Amino acid sequence: MKHTDTFDDFIKKEGDLREQSFWNQFGVSQNVMIPVKLDKENNVTHMFVVNYEGFPENGLANFFDITGIRFREGLAGMTIFQGPLEYSLQKGYIGTLLKISRSIDQCDMHTRFHSIRSGLWAHRLAQFLGLNSQEAESIALAGKIHDVGKVFIPKSILTKPGILEPEEWSLVKQHPTLGSVLMKPSHELKSIIPYVQAHHENYDGTGYPQGLSGDEIPLGARILTVADAFTTITEGRVYKKAASSQEAVRELERCSEKQFDPLVVKAMGKLVASGKVRDWMGIW
Ligand SMILES: [Fe+2]
Ligand SMILES: [Fe+2]
Repeated sequence: MKHTDTFDDFIKKEGDLREQSFWNQFGVSQNVMIPVKLDKENNVTHMFVVNYEGFPENGLANFFDITGIRFREGLAGMTIFQGPLEYSLQKGYIGTLLKISRSIDQCDMHTRFHSIRSGLWAHRLAQFLGLNSQEAESIALAGKIHDVGKVFIPKSILTKPGILEPEEWSLVKQHPTLGSVLMKPSHELKSIIPYVQAHHENYDGTGYPQGLSGDEIPLGARILTVADAFTTITEGRVYKKAASSQEAVRELERCSEKQFDPLVVKAMGKLVASGKVRDWMGIW
């Protein structure tokens, strides 16, 4: 695909996403995103979002609507390339996805360190389970960008305190697949796409998007799922107070073998009990 193609075309070619009509109501499918400025590390910091109905202001507004945030360093964005990106662009692309993930977290004060803490716990769990350092690093990176697909979901849905309408829930359930789509252009991210794609699969097969179960779910994803849930339970939400680490482990144990891989849950319990992981709400 050429980066001048619209996102609609990309979705059509991929064939694994929802019908466009559904997307149109959110102003997603009309946009062409064009990066116009890179920072020193080649992260995309400014971009035009071209919208068929109003160029370019409405597009930018739509983009902000979709992300629901203002980026501290300017307007961060993304683009979709075909084929291998050169090394510096690869790094820049990953940096941009990391920035977008951090920005999505800023939508809500409870989630402000969600990606970074998920990455931390996924890393420690992978080490604890004896995976080699390269694999542990990969799982950590997957943790830090696992929810990047939420960039296409309106902030009003992401931060809605009540129960989601069926169509809203249906959109939220697309975020693992959308995250994979954003990761596809980068060869460096290729090996961890399955982890992001499967981070909401349940051990007993009741999860999404594919309903995989047991060993069908890649180990990296099973680790990520536990790290993600532990992070979510301990950060709390508007409607739910944050739990302590010990309470979170008890909740994980309650859902062991249903939602989570029992081996990973056991490892999490031991990690928390050891007190060796410093989980502070900041940069690690
Ligand atoms: Fe998620
Ligand atoms: Fe998450």
